[in-house]
Amino acid sequence: MKCVDDFRLRFGKRELVPIVVGGMGVDISTATLALEAARLGGIGHISDAMVQTVSDRRFKTHFVKEKTKLYKFNVASSDKSAIQFDLGRLAEATQNHVGRTMEAKRGNGMIFVNCMEKLTMNAPRETLRVRMNAALDAGIDGITLSAGLHLGSLALVADHPRFRDAKFGIIVSSLRALQIFLRKNARLDRLPDYVVIEGPLAGGHLGFGADDWDKYDLRTIVAEIRQYMQAEKLDIPLIPAGGIFTGSDAVSYLEEGAAAVQVATRFTVTNECGLPDKVKQEYFKANEDEIEVNMISPTGYPMRMLKSSPAIGDGIRPNCEAYGYLLDASGNCAYITAYNREVAAHPGAKKVSVMDKTCLCTAMRNFDCWTCGHYTYRLKDTSRKLADGSYELLTAEHVFRDYQFSTEGKVALPQ
Ligand SMILES: Cc1cc2nc3c(=O)[nH]c(=O)nc-3n(C[C@H](O)[C@H](O)[C@H](O)COP(=O)(O)O)c2cc1C
Repeated sequence: MKCVDDFRLRFGKRELVPIVVGGMGVDISTATLALEAARLGGIGHISDAMVQTVSDRRFKTHFVKEKTKLYKFNVASSDKSAIQFDLGRLAEATQNHVGRTMEAKRGNGMIFVNCMEKLTMNAPRETLRVRMNAALDAGIDGITLSAGLHLGSLALVADHPRFRDAKFGIIVSSLRALQIFLRKNARLDRLPDYVVIEGPLAGGHLGFGADDWDKYDLRTIVAEIRQYMQAEKLDIPLIPAGGIFTGSDAVSYLEEGAAAVQVATRFTVTNECGLPDKVKQEYFKANEDEIEVNMISPTGYPMRMLKSSPAIGDGIRPNCEAYGYLLDASGNCAYITAYNREVAAHPGAKKVSVMDKTCLCTAMRNFDCWTCGHYTYRLKDTSRKLADGSYELLTAEHVFRDYQFSTEGKVALPQ
């Protein structure tokens, strides 16, 4: 019976354990978690979502404080178009986060950064160009383009000296999205180095509808994309993601020709994951009927989360002066619209409740949006219940090795 360790992910001559720990935004996939995956010979992701906040937390910088001070005059205004990211400061924060992670890297694996296009930051092209270039300057091994079609993203770094040596990948949820990406980027004469195929059971934002995600199936999408690649004679590693819960699940994809698997949910209950320990216990305890896919993210994409997430229904004042990562090119965010509607409907109310959207920046910053994969309800079977009713946190090494070596659908409990 085969295990994941019988396979290798190949980038040219380089061989890796075919396990990719997916990016989990706003420092849920911390540098520490990514570094463990790399040390163990796989690929770990950090994320550049809200990188200034992450830098402040990790390195005691003051990016958020400075920005809040600069735009203090705007706090009471519902028009957020004046709020801009200083590109120099954005580059600095990215270089801190990425650079210091890369300096700490040990072992034969790699570290990639997850770069979401939906973080439009009131100047989508300019800020994405800075984010990607700064990550390359800081020595990142690769960039995974996510949460968007990224039709122009590669072109933003085409002049960077590392454009042909760093790895670039794209996350897609359909053959069509991949075809459009390949067509738009053909003139760059540079194919992606890997394609992550994310199915409907993943955590975070989904590339499906909130009402029809359960009509799709990862294995079918992977097979469609594989057939297309063969027909086009394209040899690009394919990396399925979403609901791959055991080493045996992973092996079933590797045997069908996948180059690696991307996994995340099992790592949310590890010591190295950035969620507060109390929240990790919520993930452990969750039952299937306590998880939902909803539309509260202002990005317009459905998102899977625990129904008990404090972000749901919270009606805080938009915090764009401090954050503002979801402001579109004209300074709008769907949460601002929803919030203003509720304020207008409840004149004089001290606090309003906003059910249809959430202030995602603030919620993610405070770990109040408990986004998770479909199989979160199985996490309780991956650990031991302690005398006080809580579950024992795992180490990233334990979970990684369980994926790497387990067979017969088994999950190893901590020693
Ligand atoms: C808590 C959490 C946060 C996530 N955040 C992001 C993110 O910021 N960007 C992204 O591209 N994917 C994100 N994802 C998706 C993962 O990177 C990964 O592709 C997916 O969850 C794999 O499926 P699994 O969780 O069932 O293993 C997130 C997943 C989880 C569980």
